Amino acid sequence: MEKVHLTHEKATLLITLYAKAEESRLPDSLLRDHYAADAVARIDHDFSKLGMNRDEMIGLSMRAYTLDAWVREFIAAHRGATVLHLGCGLDSRVFRVDPPPDVSWFDVDYPDVIELRKKLYPSRPGYQLLGSPIANLAWLAKIPADKPTLVVAEGLFLYLQEDEVLQLLRAVTTQFPSGEIAFDAYSRWGLAMVRRNRMIRQTGALTHWSLGNPQDLESQVPGLRLRAEQWVYEEGDGKQWARFTWPSRMLVWLMRRVPPLRRLGRLLRYRY
Ligand SMILES: C[S@@+](CC[C@H](N)C(=O)[O-])C[C@H]1O[C@@H](n2cnc3c(N)ncnc32)[C@H](O)[C@@H]1O
Repeated sequence: MEKVHLTHEKATLLITLYAKAEESRLPDSLLRDHYAADAVARIDHDFSKLGMNRDEMIGLSMRAYTLDAWVREFIAAHRGATVLHLGCGLDSRVFRVDPPPDVSWFDVDYPDVIELRKKLYPSRPGYQLLGSPIANLAWLAKIPADKPTLVVAEGLFLYLQEDEVLQLLRAVTTQFPSGEIAFDAYSRWGLAMVRRNRMIRQTGALTHWSLGNPQDLESQVPGLRLRAEQWVYEEGDGKQWARFTWPSRMLVWLMRRVPPLRRLGRLLRYRY
């Protein structure tokens, strides 16, 4: 069993890991993340203290599912691409997506998080781990600069300062020839709701970055073009919403009809 001593934004990885692990146990699981379930079983930590409910597990799994799909699309369209998975925490995306060995995949997070990852997950061809604070951009020098590069960040940018997000995005669009950047972003109200979330409050994590109009980033980061803005709970056939309890379903119904409410939390996909 691995002991964990994580606090603040690092401890938030336990929330997303547990959500995916527990959702994978549901008979109608969307993400089927048995890697997360195996990791949780090997961590010496009382996850029940989170008090996570079923709707939260499903919501977080929906977010991961969409990002996985975007990663798969990018890899399929760009042979030999690079994937930078930033703020990877203990997320098993590289195993879920299972890229071909010609893809160079880098998981990046704080050094102690990366050390924990190494104890819980096996290595695989084409897969590297980098331990560094994201905002110290020296880690970018280790990435090949001549390949189409996808940056995917789930539950990360809200913990960064605005200038850290902008500097990172500018460095990515400058260093690599082309690619995409996919992440979740919250409006100011959305961030206020995240701050009030009891699981986030337990960690002591501070949130900073919010985004209103996603097109604002196009003028702040030369070369960036918005490709998709997708509400976190967007999905074609309504099957996932049907899994929520009725109060959440009503909230989703309301959010679907009131566009500013959709900006509370959504997934953004840019190309450069
Ligand atoms: C909510 S967790 C998400 C983890 C993972 N992406 C997932 O979905 O399961 C946030 C992650 O971002 C990482 N993180 C936050 N700020 C960071 C920073 N400045 N540098 C490196 N990692 C950071 C934390 O260590 C944590 O692993």
